[in-house]
Amino acid sequence: MINAKRPRRLRDTETIRKLVRETIVHKNDLVQPLFVVHGQKIRKEITGMPGQYHLSVDELLEEVKELTAVGINAIILFGLPESKDTFGSEAYDPVGIVQQAVRALREAFPELLIMTDVCLCQYTDHGHCGIVEKGRILNDESLELIAQVALTHAEAGANIVAPSDMMDGRVAAIRHKLDRNDYHHVSIMSYSVKYASAFYGPFRQAAGSSPQFGDRRSYQMDPANARDALREAELDVEEGADMLMVKPALAYLDIIREVKRHVSLPLGAYQVSGEYAMIKNAVQQGLLDHDQIMVETLTSIKRAGADVILTYFAKEMAIWIDDYE
Ligand code: PBG
Repeated sequence: MINAKRPRRLRDTETIRKLVRETIVHKNDLVQPLFVVHGQKIRKEITGMPGQYHLSVDELLEEVKELTAVGINAIILFGLPESKDTFGSEAYDPVGIVQQAVRALREAFPELLIMTDVCLCQYTDHGHCGIVEKGRILNDESLELIAQVALTHAEAGANIVAPSDMMDGRVAAIRHKLDRNDYHHVSIMSYSVKYASAFYGPFRQAAGSSPQFGDRRSYQMDPANARDALREAELDVEEGADMLMVKPALAYLDIIREVKRHVSLPLGAYQVSGEYAMIKNAVQQGLLDHDQIMVETLTSIKRAGADVILTYFAKEMAIWIDDYE
């Protein structure tokens, strides 16, 4: 071939591949999810999520020390309460587990970006994300409680609250509550586009948050729908969200791309527990190369349009980046 167009020329060496690489995942893009529990000196590995732990507050501080040492400066916290009840009261208890954890972290790490998951499902005995009446998940009645959860997280020192319940109007309810209490500076990252997905399985085991009856399909989105994603995103923009999120990530790259195209706010994507567990399991069986799959999936999520990636691989990815660069 003479005068041929040869794309392979730019793939010839690692140096030239790096030169023309379009998408690079940075440490600053990553958010590490962490699970905090009551007690002391607890560091218990989560079944199905190798390398992820239930951490008591003292151990959480140790973990965050390690994270910041490798350059991960953003976390999202999930709490496991002492006990559950009908209205999920520990979720908005000013001295609940997440509120305690945020206070301790804020004091020990003034620069840490602390995000908190705002939801009731880990805290309710029925395992749903809102108030339940006669088998239905009530919307407007749940908003007051959800806004109260966000307020207690802001009071403890969270920078960003992240509602994951999928009730209509929660972003506006949270924004009003925060502003009325002078927390204008606290941001809302909305789980705007959250599908009713089977990929949350390991998380629900880890958080003990499986619904005790029915499922979440009356509030989380139908995986078959893409236009609904834009509608949810637009509503959250109108209601005052600062950032949006799509969840899960890998099976919804088209949705990430679509939302990115239509919305100018920063966009997050959550590589959820099932995505992590599938990779870890396949690696354990010798079927996939750990680091290559980690980098490939995270790069794909960023390439699709995510500005921020919530991932259980955050720490390992940061270490990989250090070795690679
Ligand atoms: C709480 C919540 C869930 C996840 C994040 N926040 C579980 C659910 O909606 O059932 C899932 C995260 C993961 O699977 O890693 N509503």
